Amino acid sequence: MDRIFSGVQPTGNLHLGNYLGAIRNWVRLQNDYECIFCVVDMHAITQWQDPAELTANTREVAAAMIAAGIDAKKHIIFNQSQVPAHAELAWIFNCVARMGWLNRMTQFKEKAGKNRENASVGLYAYPVLMAADILLYKGTHVPVGEDQKQHLELARDIAQKFNNDFKTDLFPVVEPLIFGAATRVMSLKDGTKKMSKSDPSDLSRINMTDDADQIAKKIRKAKTDPEPLPESTKEFNGRPEAANLIGIYAALSDSSVEDVCARFGGEPFSTFKQHLADLAVSSLAPMQEEMRRLMQDTSHVDAVLADGAARARAVAEPILGEIKDVVGFLSP
Ligand code: TYM
Repeated sequence: MDRIFSGVQPTGNLHLGNYLGAIRNWVRLQNDYECIFCVVDMHAITQWQDPAELTANTREVAAAMIAAGIDAKKHIIFNQSQVPAHAELAWIFNCVARMGWLNRMTQFKEKAGKNRENASVGLYAYPVLMAADILLYKGTHVPVGEDQKQHLELARDIAQKFNNDFKTDLFPVVEPLIFGAATRVMSLKDGTKKMSKSDPSDLSRINMTDDADQIAKKIRKAKTDPEPLPESTKEFNGRPEAANLIGIYAALSDSSVEDVCARFGGEPFSTFKQHLADLAVSSLAPMQEEMRRLMQDTSHVDAVLADGAARARAVAEPILGEIKDVVGFLSP
C-alpha cells in the first residue's frame, strides 16, 4: 500500500485553512493509504515559540487530528521530536540539498522578511527537514494545501539527487496530493493573502477554537466588494474576496464552486454571509466540541502521541539504517 505522510506545525491559531486545505482531506484518505500524520514541533521552533505554548499547541493540533476523525489506532499520529531519526536524516539531506535550491524557496523569503540576516539557520533549512519527514518513511503521497507545493518539489529533488549520487533507488518519487475546493483559503480581511496562523489580525482567520459567535462575527465582518454575488466563476476576476467566501462555502457544503454561484448569484453579500455563517458553525461544531473535550483530557492525547511515536520509530529506524549503510556510515 502507498504511504501518506503529512504534518501541521503547532504554532497556535490552527485555522479553517489548515482544516479545509489539509486535515479534512486526510480523513478521507484513510481507507486507501497507510497514513502517518505528524505534529511538526521541530519545524515550529524555526521561529521563536514560548515553551509552555508549544506544548499546549502540540496537544491542540493532535486533538484536532483526532477530533476530525483520523483513526489513531489504524494510522499513526505523533509529534516529530519524539522520533530523533527526523533530525538525523535532515542532517544527511542538508549535505545533499544545494544552497541554490534553498535560495529559491518563497516561504523562507516571506517568513524571513527584510531582516534575513536575523532569521534562524533552521528556518532556512526548514524544507530539508520536511523532505526528511516524508522520506524517512519512504512516503509516496503528501496531502497538503497549495502553499506547500514548492517544498514538495524540493523533497523530490533531494530524493532524486540522493538516489543518483549513491546509485540507489532507495527513495520513491514523492507525489503531492492537492485537492478540494479549498487548497488555498484566503484571509477574511484581504482576499489576496492566504489565511495564516501568523496574521496579526485575528479577524483575518477562523480559528478551530472559535465559538459560534466569533465565527459568525468574523464572517459578518469579512471584507467584500459592493457588487452582488457573482453568478459564475467567470465573474471572479478582480473579486478575490467573493471567490474566497464562495470557495469556503463550497468546501464546507461539499459542493462545487459553480453550484454555489448558481445558488447565490445576484444576492447581496449580507444574505450570503448569513448562510455561510450558519453553515460554518453547524459543520465545524461537532469537531470543535470533540476538540474541546480532548483538550481537557491531556493524558489521553499524550498517550496517543507516545504510542504513535513508538510505532513511527519502528517504521523509521530500519529505513534510517538502510540510508546510513548507503552513505557508508560505519555502524555495529
Ligand atoms: P502548516 O502548519 O503551515 O499548515 C498545515 C497544512 O495546512 C495547509 N494550509 C492551508 N491550506 C489551505 N489554505 C490555507 N490558507 C492554508 N494554510 C495552511 C498547509 O498547506 C499544510 O498542508 N511545512 C508544513 C508542515 C510540514 C509538512 C511536512 C507537510 C512539515 N513536514 C511533511 C507535509 C509533509 C507547514 O508548515 O504546514
